Amino acid sequence: MFVNNVRGVVLAAGKSSRFKTKKCKLSFTVCGQPMVVFPIKALKDLDIPITVVLGARKEEVKEVIESAGLRDLDYAVQKGQLGTGDAVKSSQKTWNKDNILILNGDMPLVTQELLRELIFEHDRTNAAITFLSAHCLNPFGYGRVVENDGKISIVEEKNCTQEQRLVTLINAGVYIIKKSFLEKNLDKVKRNEVSGEYYVTDLVGLASDQGDKVHTVYVPYDNVRGVNTLEELWVAEQIKRSQMIKFWMAQGVRFELAQSIHLDLDIEIGEESFIGTGAHILKGTRIGRNCKINAFSIIENTTIDDDTHVHSHSVIQDSKIGKNVHVGPFARLRNNVVLGDNVGIGNFVEVKNTQIGDNTRTQHLSFLGDAKIGNNVNIGAGTVTCNYDGVKKNKTLVGDNCFIGSNNTLIAPVQVGKNSYTAAGSTVSDNVPEGTLAIGRARQENKVGYVEKLKNKKMTEASGAAGTSKAASENDIKLNFLGAVKTDEMQENL
Ligand code: UD1
Ligand code: CA
Repeated sequence: MFVNNVRGVVLAAGKSSRFKTKKCKLSFTVCGQPMVVFPIKALKDLDIPITVVLGARKEEVKEVIESAGLRDLDYAVQKGQLGTGDAVKSSQKTWNKDNILILNGDMPLVTQELLRELIFEHDRTNAAITFLSAHCLNPFGYGRVVENDGKISIVEEKNCTQEQRLVTLINAGVYIIKKSFLEKNLDKVKRNEVSGEYYVTDLVGLASDQGDKVHTVYVPYDNVRGVNTLEELWVAEQIKRSQMIKFWMAQGVRFELAQSIHLDLDIEIGEESFIGTGAHILKGTRIGRNCKINAFSIIENTTIDDDTHVHSHSVIQDSKIGKNVHVGPFARLRNNVVLGDNVGIGNFVEVKNTQIGDNTRTQHLSFLGDAKIGNNVNIGAGTVTCNYDGVKKNKTLVGDNCFIGSNNTLIAPVQVGKNSYTAAGSTVSDNVPEGTLAIGRARQENKVGYVEKLKNKKMTEASGAAGTSKAASENDIKLNFLGAVKTDEMQENL
Protein backbone atom coordinates (compact mmCIF):
# COMPACT_ATOMS: atom_id res chain seq x y z
CA MET A 1 0.00 0.00 0.00
CA PHE A 2 1.16 3.49 -0.87
CA VAL A 3 0.66 4.76 2.71
CA ASN A 4 3.60 2.56 3.68
CA ASN A 5 5.83 4.76 1.62
CA VAL A 6 5.05 8.01 3.42
CA ARG A 7 6.74 9.84 6.28
CA GLY A 8 4.81 12.58 8.04
CA VAL A 9 6.47 15.83 9.12
CA VAL A 10 4.55 18.11 11.49
CA LEU A 11 5.82 21.69 11.65
CA ALA A 12 5.67 22.83 15.26
CA ALA A 13 8.65 25.13 15.63
CA GLY A 14 7.07 28.52 14.94
CA LYS A 15 7.04 31.47 17.34
CA SER A 16 3.23 31.89 17.45
CA SER A 17 3.73 35.64 17.67
CA ARG A 18 0.18 36.45 16.53
CA PHE A 19 -1.23 34.67 19.61
CA LYS A 20 0.22 37.28 21.98
CA THR A 21 0.56 34.75 24.78
CA LYS A 22 3.55 33.43 26.73
CA LYS A 23 2.43 29.87 26.09
CA CYS A 24 2.97 28.44 22.61
CA LYS A 25 -0.24 28.45 20.55
CA LEU A 26 0.21 24.74 19.81
CA SER A 27 -0.27 23.93 23.53
CA PHE A 28 -3.72 25.55 23.61
CA THR A 29 -6.55 23.05 23.55
CA VAL A 30 -9.49 22.59 21.21
CA CYS A 31 -12.18 20.53 22.95
CA GLY A 32 -9.67 19.44 25.57
CA GLN A 33 -6.92 18.35 23.19
CA PRO A 34 -3.81 20.44 22.51
CA MET A 35 -3.74 21.83 18.99
CA VAL A 36 -0.51 20.14 17.98
CA VAL A 37 -1.95 16.72 18.85
CA PHE A 38 -4.58 16.84 16.08
CA PRO A 39 -2.28 16.56 13.02
CA ILE A 40 -0.08 14.04 14.84
CA LYS A 41 -3.06 11.82 15.66
CA ALA A 42 -4.42 12.09 12.11
CA LEU A 43 -1.09 10.72 10.82
CA LYS A 44 -0.89 8.09 13.55
CA ASP A 45 -4.34 6.81 12.65
CA LEU A 46 -2.94 6.07 9.19
CA ASP A 47 0.12 4.30 10.68
CA ILE A 48 2.45 6.82 9.12
CA PRO A 49 5.80 7.34 10.90
CA ILE A 50 6.07 10.92 12.14
CA THR A 51 8.72 13.58 12.64
CA VAL A 52 7.76 16.59 14.72
CA VAL A 53 9.85 19.69 14.09
CA LEU A 54 10.36 21.62 17.33
CA GLY A 55 11.98 25.01 17.79
CA ALA A 56 10.46 27.90 19.70
CA ARG A 57 9.44 26.67 23.20
CA LYS A 58 10.49 23.17 22.23
CA GLU A 59 10.41 21.71 25.75
CA GLU A 60 6.87 22.96 26.28
CA VAL A 61 5.59 21.55 22.98
CA LYS A 62 7.33 18.19 23.50
CA GLU A 63 5.88 17.91 26.99
CA VAL A 64 2.38 18.61 25.64
CA ILE A 65 2.79 15.89 23.00
CA GLU A 66 4.10 13.34 25.49
CA SER A 67 1.40 14.10 28.04
CA ALA A 68 -1.14 13.27 25.35
CA GLY A 69 0.35 9.77 25.37
CA LEU A 70 1.88 10.04 21.89
CA ARG A 71 4.96 7.85 21.72
CA ASP A 72 7.26 6.52 18.98
CA LEU A 73 7.70 9.88 17.34
CA ASP A 74 10.91 11.26 15.86
CA TYR A 75 11.85 14.79 16.74
CA ALA A 76 13.90 17.28 14.76
CA VAL A 77 14.99 20.71 15.93
CA GLN A 78 14.87 23.86 13.86
CA LYS A 79 17.50 26.18 15.30
CA GLY A 80 16.23 29.61 14.24
CA GLN A 81 12.67 30.34 13.17
CA LEU A 82 13.54 30.93 9.54
CA GLY A 83 10.24 29.85 8.05
CA THR A 84 8.38 26.71 7.06
CA GLY A 85 10.87 25.82 4.29
CA ASP A 86 13.70 25.88 6.82
CA ALA A 87 11.59 23.84 9.27
CA VAL A 88 11.12 21.13 6.65
CA LYS A 89 14.85 21.14 5.97
CA SER A 90 15.66 20.50 9.59
CA SER A 91 13.72 17.23 9.44
CA GLN A 92 15.81 15.90 6.50
CA LYS A 93 17.71 13.23 8.42
CA THR A 94 14.43 11.44 9.15
CA TRP A 95 13.26 11.18 5.52
CA ASN A 96 13.35 7.39 5.28
CA LYS A 97 10.35 7.06 2.90
CA ASP A 98 9.91 8.06 -0.74
CA ASN A 99 7.16 10.59 0.02
CA ILE A 100 7.13 13.27 2.69
CA LEU A 101 3.73 14.44 3.96
CA ILE A 102 4.16 17.88 5.55
CA LEU A 103 1.50 19.40 7.80
CA ASN A 104 1.31 22.65 9.69
CA GLY A 105 0.94 22.07 13.41
CA ASP A 106 -1.82 24.67 13.77
CA MET A 107 -4.73 22.96 12.00
CA PRO A 108 -6.86 21.20 14.62
CA LEU A 109 -9.75 20.45 12.28
CA VAL A 110 -7.77 18.25 9.89
CA THR A 111 -8.96 14.63 9.57
CA GLN A 112 -7.31 11.39 8.60
CA GLU A 113 -9.82 11.07 5.72
CA LEU A 114 -8.41 14.23 4.13
CA LEU A 115 -4.86 12.94 4.48
CA ARG A 116 -5.89 9.62 2.99
CA GLU A 117 -7.44 11.44 0.04
CA LEU A 118 -4.29 13.54 -0.42
CA ILE A 119 -2.09 10.43 -0.42
CA PHE A 120 -4.44 8.63 -2.81
CA GLU A 121 -4.44 11.56 -5.27
CA HIS A 122 -0.67 11.93 -5.07
CA ASP A 123 -0.25 8.28 -5.91
CA ARG A 124 -2.85 8.41 -8.68
CA THR A 125 -1.41 11.47 -10.43
CA ASN A 126 2.25 10.67 -9.74
CA ALA A 127 2.82 14.38 -9.07
CA ALA A 128 6.04 15.76 -7.59
CA ILE A 129 3.93 17.81 -5.16
CA THR A 130 0.29 17.36 -4.22
CA PHE A 131 -1.26 19.79 -1.73
CA LEU A 132 -4.65 20.57 -0.19
CA SER A 133 -6.42 23.79 -1.09
CA ALA A 134 -9.78 25.26 -0.14
CA HIS A 135 -12.12 28.05 -1.11
CA CYS A 136 -12.47 30.68 1.56
CA LEU A 137 -14.41 33.92 1.28
CA ASN A 138 -12.15 35.79 3.66
CA PRO A 139 -8.70 34.53 2.68
CA PHE A 140 -6.70 37.18 4.56
CA GLY A 141 -3.47 35.72 5.94
CA TYR A 142 -3.43 32.57 3.85
CA GLY A 143 -1.17 31.81 0.90
CA ARG A 144 -3.21 32.16 -2.32
CA VAL A 145 -3.16 29.45 -4.97
CA VAL A 146 -2.49 31.27 -8.20
CA GLU A 147 -2.56 29.81 -11.71
CA ASN A 148 -0.82 31.46 -14.65
CA ASP A 149 -0.50 29.79 -18.05
CA GLY A 150 -1.28 26.44 -16.46
CA LYS A 151 1.47 26.94 -13.86
CA ILE A 152 0.41 26.77 -10.22
CA SER A 153 2.19 28.75 -7.50
CA ILE A 154 1.44 29.85 -3.94
CA VAL A 155 1.75 33.53 -3.09
CA GLU A 156 1.87 34.51 0.57
CA GLU A 157 -0.30 37.34 1.88
CA LYS A 158 2.70 39.63 2.35
CA ASN A 159 3.75 39.12 -1.26
CA CYS A 160 0.34 39.34 -2.93
CA THR A 161 -0.46 41.98 -5.49
CA GLN A 162 -3.72 43.85 -5.07
CA GLU A 163 -5.30 41.50 -7.60
CA GLN A 164 -3.92 38.34 -5.98
CA ARG A 165 -5.40 39.40 -2.63
CA LEU A 166 -8.83 38.84 -4.18
CA VAL A 167 -8.06 35.19 -4.95
CA THR A 168 -10.20 33.01 -2.69
CA LEU A 169 -8.45 29.69 -3.27
CA ILE A 170 -6.09 29.22 -0.34
CA ASN A 171 -3.22 26.90 0.47
CA ALA A 172 -4.25 24.70 3.38
CA GLY A 173 -0.73 23.97 4.63
CA VAL A 174 -0.70 20.20 3.89
CA TYR A 175 1.62 18.89 1.19
CA ILE A 176 2.90 15.52 0.06
CA ILE A 177 6.17 15.77 -1.83
CA LYS A 178 8.38 13.16 -3.46
CA LYS A 179 11.54 12.81 -1.42
CA SER A 180 13.67 12.91 -4.57
CA PHE A 181 12.12 16.26 -5.52
CA LEU A 182 12.63 17.67 -2.01
CA GLU A 183 16.28 16.58 -1.91
CA LYS A 184 16.98 18.20 -5.27
CA ASN A 185 15.04 21.41 -4.75
CA LEU A 186 14.74 22.45 -1.11
CA ASP A 187 18.07 24.28 -1.20
CA LYS A 188 16.88 26.24 -4.23
CA VAL A 189 14.23 28.01 -2.13
CA LYS A 190 15.37 31.59 -1.62
CA ARG A 191 14.90 33.73 1.43
CA ASN A 192 11.76 35.82 0.98
CA GLU A 193 12.64 39.48 0.57
CA VAL A 194 9.65 40.79 2.51
CA SER A 195 9.72 38.46 5.54
CA GLY A 196 13.28 37.13 5.48
CA GLU A 197 11.91 33.56 5.75
CA TYR A 198 12.24 30.44 3.63
CA TYR A 199 8.79 29.33 2.48
CA VAL A 200 7.92 25.69 1.90
CA THR A 201 5.21 27.04 -0.39
CA ASP A 202 7.83 28.32 -2.85
CA LEU A 203 8.44 24.68 -3.84
CA VAL A 204 5.11 24.69 -5.66
CA GLY A 205 6.07 27.51 -8.05
CA LEU A 206 9.53 25.99 -8.42
CA ALA A 207 8.08 22.64 -9.49
CA SER A 208 5.73 24.31 -11.98
CA ASP A 209 8.57 26.37 -13.45
CA GLN A 210 10.72 23.27 -13.88
CA GLY A 211 7.92 21.33 -15.50
CA ASP A 212 7.48 18.97 -12.53
CA LYS A 213 3.92 17.96 -11.96
CA VAL A 214 1.93 19.83 -9.30
CA HIS A 215 -1.53 18.68 -8.24
CA THR A 216 -3.98 20.21 -5.77
CA VAL A 217 -6.90 18.57 -4.01
CA TYR A 218 -9.87 20.77 -3.08
CA VAL A 219 -11.21 20.18 0.40
CA PRO A 220 -13.77 21.92 2.66
CA TYR A 221 -12.30 25.05 4.22
CA ASP A 222 -13.64 24.24 7.68
CA ASN A 223 -11.42 21.15 7.82
CA VAL A 224 -8.23 23.03 7.13
CA ARG A 225 -8.61 26.32 8.96
CA GLY A 226 -5.29 27.52 10.33
CA VAL A 227 -5.12 28.98 13.85
CA ASN A 228 -2.88 32.01 14.14
CA THR A 229 -4.85 34.08 16.67
CA LEU A 230 -6.97 33.47 19.77
CA GLU A 231 -9.99 34.47 17.70
CA GLU A 232 -9.24 31.72 15.18
CA LEU A 233 -8.81 29.29 18.07
CA TRP A 234 -12.28 30.22 19.31
CA VAL A 235 -13.76 29.67 15.85
CA ALA A 236 -12.00 26.31 15.41
CA GLU A 237 -13.28 25.16 18.79
CA GLN A 238 -16.84 26.23 17.93
CA ILE A 239 -16.68 24.10 14.81
CA LYS A 240 -15.23 21.07 16.58
CA ARG A 241 -17.79 21.37 19.37
CA SER A 242 -20.70 21.62 16.93
CA GLN A 243 -19.45 18.51 15.13
CA MET A 244 -19.39 16.65 18.43
CA ILE A 245 -22.81 17.86 19.55
CA LYS A 246 -24.29 16.75 16.23
CA PHE A 247 -22.58 13.37 16.61
CA TRP A 248 -24.01 12.80 20.11
CA MET A 249 -27.45 14.05 19.05
CA ALA A 250 -27.41 11.37 16.39
CA GLN A 251 -26.75 8.83 19.18
CA GLY A 252 -29.90 9.90 21.02
CA VAL A 253 -28.53 12.50 23.44
CA ARG A 254 -30.65 15.57 24.07
CA PHE A 255 -28.92 18.93 24.57
CA GLU A 256 -30.78 21.82 26.13
CA LEU A 257 -29.56 25.07 24.52
CA ALA A 258 -26.91 23.12 22.61
CA GLN A 259 -24.89 26.20 21.66
CA SER A 260 -24.05 26.84 25.32
CA ILE A 261 -22.67 23.39 26.08
CA HIS A 262 -18.99 22.50 26.12
CA LEU A 263 -17.89 19.01 25.15
CA ASP A 264 -14.35 17.66 25.08
CA LEU A 265 -13.13 14.87 22.88
CA ASP A 266 -12.74 11.53 24.65
CA ILE A 267 -16.17 11.42 26.27
CA GLU A 268 -19.17 9.11 25.98
CA ILE A 269 -22.84 9.88 26.59
CA GLY A 270 -25.48 7.15 26.61
CA GLU A 271 -28.74 7.37 24.73
CA GLU A 272 -31.69 9.27 26.16
CA SER A 273 -29.40 11.24 28.41
CA PHE A 274 -30.00 14.96 28.81
CA ILE A 275 -27.33 17.64 29.01
CA GLY A 276 -28.49 20.97 30.43
CA THR A 277 -27.65 24.54 29.48
CA GLY A 278 -24.04 25.56 29.99
CA ALA A 279 -22.88 22.12 31.17
CA HIS A 280 -19.25 21.14 30.59
CA ILE A 281 -18.58 17.49 29.84
CA LEU A 282 -14.81 17.24 30.00
CA LYS A 283 -12.38 14.60 28.87
CA GLY A 284 -12.39 11.14 30.36
CA THR A 285 -16.11 11.34 31.21
CA ARG A 286 -18.46 8.42 30.52
CA ILE A 287 -22.15 9.10 31.10
CA GLY A 288 -24.56 6.16 30.99
CA ARG A 289 -28.07 5.93 29.54
CA ASN A 290 -30.99 8.03 30.65
CA CYS A 291 -28.91 10.33 32.84
CA LYS A 292 -29.63 13.98 33.45
CA ILE A 293 -26.86 16.51 33.81
CA ASN A 294 -28.53 19.78 34.69
CA ALA A 295 -27.54 23.34 33.90
CA PHE A 296 -24.04 24.63 34.62
CA SER A 297 -22.64 21.40 35.99
CA ILE A 298 -19.05 20.49 35.20
CA ILE A 299 -18.11 16.82 34.90
CA GLU A 300 -14.51 15.80 34.31
CA ASN A 301 -12.86 12.40 34.07
CA THR A 302 -15.81 10.73 35.76
CA THR A 303 -17.91 7.67 35.07
CA ILE A 304 -21.65 8.01 35.72
CA ASP A 305 -23.87 4.94 35.52
CA ASP A 306 -27.39 4.78 34.07
CA ASP A 307 -30.40 6.77 35.38
CA THR A 308 -28.32 9.13 37.49
CA HIS A 309 -29.27 12.77 37.92
CA VAL A 310 -26.72 15.50 38.50
CA HIS A 311 -28.63 18.60 39.54
CA SER A 312 -27.53 22.06 38.50
CA HIS A 313 -24.27 23.77 39.44
CA SER A 314 -22.46 20.62 40.55
CA VAL A 315 -18.77 20.01 39.92
CA ILE A 316 -17.59 16.41 39.69
CA GLN A 317 -14.01 15.38 38.96
CA ASP A 318 -12.12 12.08 38.89
CA SER A 319 -14.99 10.08 40.34
CA LYS A 320 -17.16 7.04 39.75
CA ILE A 321 -20.90 7.26 40.33
CA GLY A 322 -23.39 4.38 40.43
CA LYS A 323 -26.89 3.95 39.05
CA ASN A 324 -29.88 6.09 39.99
CA VAL A 325 -27.84 8.49 42.10
CA HIS A 326 -28.80 12.10 42.81
CA VAL A 327 -26.03 14.68 43.15
CA GLY A 328 -26.49 18.37 43.89
CA PRO A 329 -27.59 21.04 43.23
CA PHE A 330 -24.36 22.79 44.22
CA ALA A 331 -22.42 19.67 45.14
CA ARG A 332 -18.72 19.09 44.67
CA LEU A 333 -17.19 15.64 44.23
CA ARG A 334 -13.47 15.34 43.60
CA ASN A 335 -10.36 13.25 43.79
CA ASN A 336 -11.53 9.66 43.61
CA VAL A 337 -15.04 9.64 44.98
CA VAL A 338 -16.82 6.33 44.46
CA LEU A 339 -20.60 6.29 44.95
CA GLY A 340 -22.69 3.10 44.94
CA ASP A 341 -26.23 2.87 43.54
CA ASN A 342 -29.19 4.97 44.76
CA VAL A 343 -26.96 7.36 46.69
CA GLY A 344 -28.17 10.89 47.48
CA ILE A 345 -25.65 13.72 47.69
CA GLY A 346 -27.54 16.93 48.32
CA ASN A 347 -26.92 20.64 48.15
CA PHE A 348 -23.71 22.21 49.39
CA VAL A 349 -22.08 18.86 50.07
CA GLU A 350 -18.39 18.33 49.28
CA VAL A 351 -17.05 14.80 49.00
CA LYS A 352 -13.37 14.10 48.48
CA ASN A 353 -11.50 10.81 48.14
CA THR A 354 -14.38 8.93 49.71
CA GLN A 355 -16.28 5.73 49.04
CA ILE A 356 -20.01 5.72 49.73
CA GLY A 357 -22.11 2.53 49.68
CA ASP A 358 -25.52 1.85 48.12
CA ASN A 359 -28.62 3.72 49.37
CA THR A 360 -26.62 6.11 51.55
CA ARG A 361 -27.67 9.74 51.83
CA THR A 362 -25.94 12.93 52.78
CA GLN A 363 -28.35 15.60 51.74
CA HIS A 364 -27.27 18.92 53.17
CA LEU A 365 -24.20 21.05 53.84
CA SER A 366 -21.58 18.42 54.66
CA PHE A 367 -17.92 17.67 54.03
CA LEU A 368 -16.84 14.05 53.71
CA GLY A 369 -13.13 13.63 53.05
CA ASP A 370 -10.94 10.50 53.09
CA ALA A 371 -13.86 8.46 54.35
CA LYS A 372 -15.46 5.11 53.72
CA ILE A 373 -19.18 5.12 54.36
CA GLY A 374 -21.19 1.87 54.18
CA ASN A 375 -24.59 1.03 52.71
CA ASN A 376 -27.90 2.47 53.99
CA VAL A 377 -26.29 5.20 56.03
CA ASN A 378 -27.95 8.53 56.74
CA ILE A 379 -25.59 11.43 57.31
CA GLY A 380 -27.33 14.38 58.93
CA ALA A 381 -27.08 17.97 57.76
CA GLY A 382 -23.85 19.79 58.49
CA THR A 383 -21.74 16.73 59.24
CA VAL A 384 -18.01 17.25 58.81
CA THR A 385 -15.16 14.77 58.75
CA CYS A 386 -12.10 16.36 60.31
CA ASN A 387 -9.66 14.49 58.11
CA TYR A 388 -6.59 16.71 58.41
CA ASP A 389 -4.56 16.97 61.59
CA GLY A 390 -2.20 19.59 60.21
CA VAL A 391 0.29 16.99 59.02
CA LYS A 392 -1.55 14.17 57.33
CA LYS A 393 -4.98 13.08 56.15
CA ASN A 394 -6.79 10.54 58.34
CA LYS A 395 -9.62 8.13 57.59
CA THR A 396 -13.18 8.12 58.81
CA LEU A 397 -15.01 4.79 58.60
CA VAL A 398 -18.77 4.51 59.01
CA GLY A 399 -20.29 1.00 58.84
CA ASP A 400 -23.54 -0.09 57.16
CA ASN A 401 -26.94 1.07 58.45
CA CYS A 402 -25.58 3.87 60.62
CA PHE A 403 -27.38 7.10 61.43
CA ILE A 404 -25.06 10.06 61.85
CA GLY A 405 -27.02 12.87 63.48
CA SER A 406 -27.01 16.41 62.16
CA ASN A 407 -24.07 18.68 62.78
CA ASN A 408 -21.67 15.92 63.75
CA THR A 409 -17.92 16.42 63.79
CA LEU A 410 -16.15 13.16 63.09
CA ILE A 411 -12.54 13.56 64.19
CA ALA A 412 -10.42 11.19 62.10
CA PRO A 413 -9.00 8.67 62.45
CA VAL A 414 -12.29 7.38 63.77
CA GLN A 415 -14.65 4.48 63.15
CA VAL A 416 -18.38 4.17 63.69
CA GLY A 417 -19.30 0.48 63.77
CA LYS A 418 -22.29 -0.74 61.78
CA ASN A 419 -25.90 -0.26 62.98
CA SER A 420 -24.87 2.63 65.25
CA TYR A 421 -26.35 6.05 65.92
CA THR A 422 -24.60 9.27 66.79
CA ALA A 423 -26.64 12.02 68.40
CA ALA A 424 -27.13 15.36 66.68
CA GLY A 425 -24.43 17.89 67.48
CA SER A 426 -21.91 15.24 68.55
CA THR A 427 -18.18 15.58 68.33
CA VAL A 428 -17.09 12.00 67.71
CA SER A 429 -13.44 11.56 68.59
CA ASP A 430 -13.53 7.97 69.90
CA ASN A 431 -14.46 4.87 67.95
CA VAL A 432 -18.10 3.85 68.26
CA PRO A 433 -18.69 0.08 68.60
CA GLU A 434 -21.37 -1.66 66.52
CA GLY A 435 -24.99 -1.12 67.49
CA THR A 436 -24.21 1.79 69.81
CA LEU A 437 -25.71 5.23 70.39
CA ALA A 438 -22.88 7.73 70.81
CA ILE A 439 -23.61 11.13 72.34
CA GLY A 440 -20.71 13.53 72.26
CA ARG A 441 -22.08 16.91 73.26
CA ALA A 442 -22.46 19.21 76.27
CA ARG A 443 -25.66 18.47 78.19
CA GLN A 444 -28.32 21.18 78.06
CA GLU A 445 -29.36 22.85 81.29
CA ASN A 446 -32.66 24.82 81.59
CA LYS A 447 -32.85 27.69 84.10
CA VAL A 448 -36.59 27.82 84.62
CA GLY A 449 -37.99 31.28 85.62
CA TYR A 450 -34.65 32.98 85.03
CA VAL A 451 -35.97 35.70 82.73
CA GLU A 452 -38.61 36.96 85.14
CA LYS A 453 -36.15 36.97 88.04
CA LEU A 454 -33.63 39.08 86.16
CA LYS A 455 -36.25 41.58 85.09
CA ASN A 456 -37.43 42.11 88.66
CA LYS A 457 -33.89 42.64 89.89
CA LYS A 458 -33.18 45.33 87.32
CA MET A 459 -36.45 47.13 88.14
CA THR A 460 -35.55 47.26 91.81
CA GLU A 461 -32.08 48.66 91.07
CA ALA A 462 -33.54 51.31 88.82
CA SER A 463 -36.10 52.63 91.36
CA GLY A 464 -33.38 52.66 94.11
CA ALA A 465 -31.39 55.13 92.06
CA ALA A 466 -34.35 57.60 91.80
CA GLY A 467 -33.43 61.30 91.61
CA THR A 468 -29.90 60.75 90.39
CA SER A 469 -30.88 59.54 86.94
CA LYS A 470 -33.98 58.95 84.93
CA ALA A 471 -35.74 55.75 85.98
CA ALA A 472 -35.20 53.01 83.46
CA SER A 473 -38.32 52.01 81.71
CA GLU A 474 -39.32 48.41 81.52
CA ASN A 475 -38.44 48.56 77.82
CA ASP A 476 -34.87 49.70 78.47
CA ILE A 477 -34.39 46.79 80.78
CA LYS A 478 -35.69 44.35 78.19
CA LEU A 479 -33.30 45.73 75.56
CA ASN A 480 -30.43 45.55 77.97
CA PHE A 481 -31.30 42.00 78.79
CA LEU A 482 -31.54 40.85 75.19
CA GLY A 483 -28.52 42.67 73.88
CA ALA A 484 -25.98 43.34 76.56
CA VAL A 485 -26.18 41.03 79.55
CA LYS A 486 -22.87 39.26 79.95
CA THR A 487 -22.65 35.63 80.95
CA ASP A 488 -20.99 36.37 84.29
CA GLU A 489 -23.65 38.95 85.10
CA MET A 490 -26.29 36.34 84.33
CA GLN A 491 -24.60 33.88 86.66
CA GLU A 492 -24.50 36.51 89.43
CA ASN A 493 -28.17 37.19 89.10
CA LEU A 494 -29.24 33.63 89.60
C1 UD1 B 1 1.23 28.94 6.19
C2 UD1 B 1 1.54 28.93 4.69
C3 UD1 B 1 0.35 29.52 3.95
C4 UD1 B 1 -0.90 28.74 4.26
C5 UD1 B 1 -1.14 28.66 5.75
C6 UD1 B 1 -2.25 27.67 6.04
C7 UD1 B 1 3.95 29.23 4.51
C8 UD1 B 1 5.06 30.15 4.15
N1 UD1 B 1 2.72 29.72 4.45
O1 UD1 B 1 1.10 30.30 6.58
O2 UD1 B 1 0.59 29.47 2.55
O3 UD1 B 1 -2.01 29.32 3.61
O4 UD1 B 1 0.04 28.20 6.43
O5 UD1 B 1 -2.65 27.74 7.37
O6 UD1 B 1 4.21 28.09 4.83
N2 UD1 B 1 6.65 26.88 11.65
C9 UD1 B 1 7.86 26.29 11.92
N3 UD1 B 1 9.00 27.02 11.74
C10 UD1 B 1 9.00 28.28 11.28
C11 UD1 B 1 7.75 28.88 10.99
C12 UD1 B 1 6.60 28.16 11.17
O7 UD1 B 1 7.92 25.14 12.33
O8 UD1 B 1 10.09 28.87 11.16
C13 UD1 B 1 5.41 26.10 11.87
C14 UD1 B 1 4.45 26.79 12.81
O9 UD1 B 1 4.64 26.35 14.15
C15 UD1 B 1 3.08 26.37 12.27
C16 UD1 B 1 3.35 26.08 10.80
O10 UD1 B 1 4.75 25.98 10.64
O11 UD1 B 1 2.61 25.20 12.90
C17 UD1 B 1 2.80 27.18 9.91
O12 UD1 B 1 3.40 28.40 10.24
P1 UD1 B 1 2.58 29.75 10.30
O13 UD1 B 1 3.50 30.84 10.71
O14 UD1 B 1 1.35 29.57 11.06
O15 UD1 B 1 2.23 29.91 8.75
P2 UD1 B 1 1.08 30.78 8.12
O16 UD1 B 1 1.49 32.20 8.12
O17 UD1 B 1 -0.21 30.44 8.72
CA1 CA C 1 -0.81 29.23 10.45
